[in-house]
Order: sequence, then C-alpha cells, then structure tokens
Amino acid sequence: MATLLYLQASPRHGRSHSLAVADAFLEAYVQLHPQDTIDTLDLFALDLPPFDGLLVNAKYNILHGRPQPSEEAAAWKQVEALIAQFKDADKYVLASPMWNFGIPYRLKQYLDILVQPTYTFGYTPESGYFGLVTGKPIFVALARGGAYPPGSPAAHIDFQKPYLDFILRFIGFTDIRWAIVEPTLEQGPETAQARRQEAITQARKLAADF
Ligand SMILES: Cc1cc2nc3c(=O)[nH]c(=O)nc-3n(C[C@H](O)[C@H](O)[C@H](O)COP(=O)(O)O)c2cc1C
Repeated sequence: MATLLYLQASPRHGRSHSLAVADAFLEAYVQLHPQDTIDTLDLFALDLPPFDGLLVNAKYNILHGRPQPSEEAAAWKQVEALIAQFKDADKYVLASPMWNFGIPYRLKQYLDILVQPTYTFGYTPESGYFGLVTGKPIFVALARGGAYPPGSPAAHIDFQKPYLDFILRFIGFTDIRWAIVEPTLEQGPETAQARRQEAITQARKLAADF
C-alpha cells in the first residue's frame, strides 16, 4: 500500500483548472489502486512557517556547524516535520497555476522549507549536488492564462515549468509527468474548456502506470 501526497497550489478550489486535471489523475489512480492512501495538502490553508530570519539563521547554523539556540531549534523542528511528511510519501501529485510567469508564493514558500541540504539534497566536492528524494514518481498539473508551448515566442518567459522541472530534479526526481492546461484566459472560456479536457485525457493516461 502506497501513500500519495497531493500538493494543491491553487486557491481557486472548484474553479481551478490545475486542480481539475490533478483530480482527474487521482480519480483514475484511485480506481487502479483503491488501497492506497491519498494525503492532500492545500498549500494556501496549511500552516507553513514563514522562512524568515529565524529559519534562515537555523539553516545557516546547521550549514556552518554552529550550535542551534533554542528558538531556532524549535522553529527548525517545524521544517523537519514538513520535510518528513513529504519524504514519507511514495508518490506525488502537484497542481500549480502560473502566477506572474512563475509559481504561486505559497508553493515557493513550501519549496524553501523543503529543499534543504542533507534532507532533500546532498553535496560533496567530488560528486557535486545530488538529490535525496529518489525512485518516486510525480505527476504535475499546470494551468496558465496564456500559452507558452516549446518553440513559441512566449516560451522563454515560462518560468513555471522550467523552474519546477529543475527544482524537482535537483532534489532527486527523474520520473516527472506533466499535463498542462493553456491558455485558460487568453482565448476565452471555450478554448479553456477544450484544453482542460485534453489535459484531463492526458492525465488519465499518465495515471495508468503511475
Ligand atoms: C496572481 C496571478 C498572476 C497570474 N499571472 C499569470 C502569468 O504571468 N501568466 C499567465 O499566463 N497567466 C497568469 N495568471 C492566470 C492564471 O495562470 C490562470 O488563471 C490559471 O488558470 C490559474 O490556474 P488555476 O486555474 O489552476 O487556478 C495569473 C493569475 C493570478 C491570480
């Protein structure tokens, strides 16, 4: 029995295209794996600690081998708990809108908490950087108001998919499956619905051997 962690980075609930595609993926997945556990994290509802001076100090104390004062130590425990929850999962689903050509700030905050040396990635002078979240698949559903397909004039301003692809590979993912709804705004609601349906069909296919 596997545990699948579903990360929701859109606050639009029933109106969200990325959530609709991720939900369709999960519906297909659950039919094939009825015994598995699905844990859902709504990143806009989750109590994420701000990655402020306290946590930055805690991070650098670890990095430089300095003793951790009790306030920093207590704050770091929250980071460790969120990382442990993430790493405990066997499979992942992420739904994310494009916001200002990148990702929503709550997803970035979650990643700032998650991506930590010795926890989710390692480094040695000999090998360089290597990911520590390995052998696990992730399905990513994206939605954007405009369209940014590879080779198009807008492709170079897509900082959403390339960033997510990079950061997921950085922490060890190699099996990354995508379904993208675009454009959800630029060409009106009919095009958005048609593209969403295409992405849902793609998502269901990708769930078959996940
Ligand atoms: C704060 C904010 C910023 C946005 N920035 C962009 C953008 O830079 N490029 C774009 O194509 N769409 C942008 N959009 C539109 C969303 O990407 C689009 O509505 C998408 O469908 C949202 O995903 P969702 O339906 O899963 O919530 C933005 C929307 C919001 C709310």
